[in-house]
Formats: sequence, structure tokens, C-alpha cells
Amino acid sequence: MPTVLITGANRGIGLEFARQYVADGWRVIAACREPARAQSLLDCLPAADVVPLDVTDTASIRGLAAALAGQSIDVLIANAGVMSAHPKSHPLDIADEAWLTDFRVNAMGALRVAAAFAPHVAAGRERKLIAISSLLGSIGSNGMGGHYSYRASKTALNALWRSFAVDHPELIAVTLSPGLLRTDMTRYESAWDQLNDPAPRVGLLRGVIAALTAADSGSAMSFSGEKMPW
Ligand SMILES: NC(=O)c1ccc[n+]([C@@H]2O[C@H](COP(=O)([O-])OP(=O)(O)OC[C@H]3O[C@@H](n4cnc5c(N)ncnc54)[C@H](OP(=O)(O)O)[C@@H]3O)[C@@H](O)[C@H]2O)c1
Repeated sequence: MPTVLITGANRGIGLEFARQYVADGWRVIAACREPARAQSLLDCLPAADVVPLDVTDTASIRGLAAALAGQSIDVLIANAGVMSAHPKSHPLDIADEAWLTDFRVNAMGALRVAAAFAPHVAAGRERKLIAISSLLGSIGSNGMGGHYSYRASKTALNALWRSFAVDHPELIAVTLSPGLLRTDMTRYESAWDQLNDPAPRVGLLRGVIAALTAADSGSAMSFSGEKMPW
């Protein structure tokens, strides 16, 4: 039975990944900040191993990596993410704490998770290390502006993942952009009800992950499997 570890698995895109991998017969290690409060996850997925993980807390990351020592992970999905400022915020109105939180979770947290679990992933059959990034992290695709702190943190994530791929040729490390989806993160959208449901998109993302080869490592890809401009 293949194993996937998903961060931020208690809601949104992470929960949908967990649901779909469980349905496919995978062992799912569903990491979330507060397992006791992860009611949807606990109710829907009794088959998942729900474990605590705060990606901004290095001790928490090290603790889970130690608890899983000797266990292989085929696919790790660094999905946990935040958007701490409204996308249209004026730069002078974005508090330092919002900038730092976006960087702590989206960039530094994901990299630390990658570093802690690289040995587990290297021991897996698939050796795939996936970060959920964003189209907003692509400088070359930016025709919209705004989203300052979030955008910068995802650009940083892409840069960090590329570096990690160079340093770890034994792994397939790729960032994936899921596109705009209806989750708690996007509640600022005026037509939120009409946004795409995460389920079909996560199905596409799982297809992209399944098709990744060593030649893809170090790239940033969209949910349709196309390489994205940096
Ligand atoms: N939705 C979109 O349109 C969209 C588009 C592009 C990229 N993305 C990316 O997709 C990923 C998932 O987003 P989503 O839309 O599913 O957002 P969401 O519904 O807001 O879920 C975010 C998840 O991240 C977790 N998280 C936040 N901070 C954490 C921390 N310090 N440690 C561990 N977990 C933490 C949350 O846990 P708590 O419940 O404990 O807060 C939650 O499980 C993110 O990386 C996001 O940037 C989303």
C-alpha cells in the first residue's frame, strides 16, 4: 500500500487530497495543526492516520519526522498555506506580521518539512516531494498585480523547492499550482460560490503527481501538467 503524507489535511485542498488518496487505497498520514479540532477529517476519514504538525514549529516538524522514522513515504504533499493579507491591500497597510506569517508557513515551513522528511521520501517507491504553490508565485505569469505578501511567499517557495531539487537528485521535487478554488482561503472572492470545487481539480493534480518523472524535478507545474514560467 503506497503512503502519502499531507500537511494542512484538515480542510480545503489538503482534506480533498486525503479523501481521494484514502478512497484509492493509499495509507494517508493526515498532518494538521490541531488533530482534536479536525472534525471533518476525523469524521470522514477514519482510515487516515491523523497526526499533529504545525509547519511553523521546528520542534513539531522534528517530532513527527522522528515518530515516523524508518517508515517510507511515497508522496509528500506540503499543502499547508495561508494568505494573511487581503489581495488588494495597499502595501503600506500590510502589517509586518502578515508578511512574516505568509513566509513562515508558505515558504520556510514547507522547506523545513521537505528537509525533515526527505529521508522518508527517499525510502519510498515514488520519491515525490510536492509543494502546493500558486500561479501567483509565478513572476512571468503576473498580469494581475496585488497579493503582495502571499505572492512573494509563493515565489520564494518555488525558489526554495528548486534549490531543494538540485540538492536532492534522488527525489522528484516539484511545485504545483492548483488554480483558483472554493476554499476558506478564497472567501474574499465576491463570486466565491461560483468558484471551482476542489474535488475535480485535486483529481487532476493527483494525475499530474502520478505522471511525474525524474526529468520534471525542479520545475513548477500547473494542474494541467504544463511547466509554468518562473
Ligand atoms: N484555494 C485556492 O484557490 C488556492 C490557489 C492556489 C494555491 N492554493 C494553496 O493551496 C494550499 C491549500 O489551500 P486551501 O485553499 O486549501 O486553504 P485553506 O482551506 O485555508 O486551508 C489551509 C490549510 O493549511 C493549514 N495551515 C495553515 N497554517 C498552518 C501551520 N502553521 N501548520 C500546519 N498547517 C497549517 C490550515 O490548518 P488550520 O485549519 O489549522 O488553520 C488548513 O488545513 C495552500 O498552500 C494555498 O496557498 C490555494
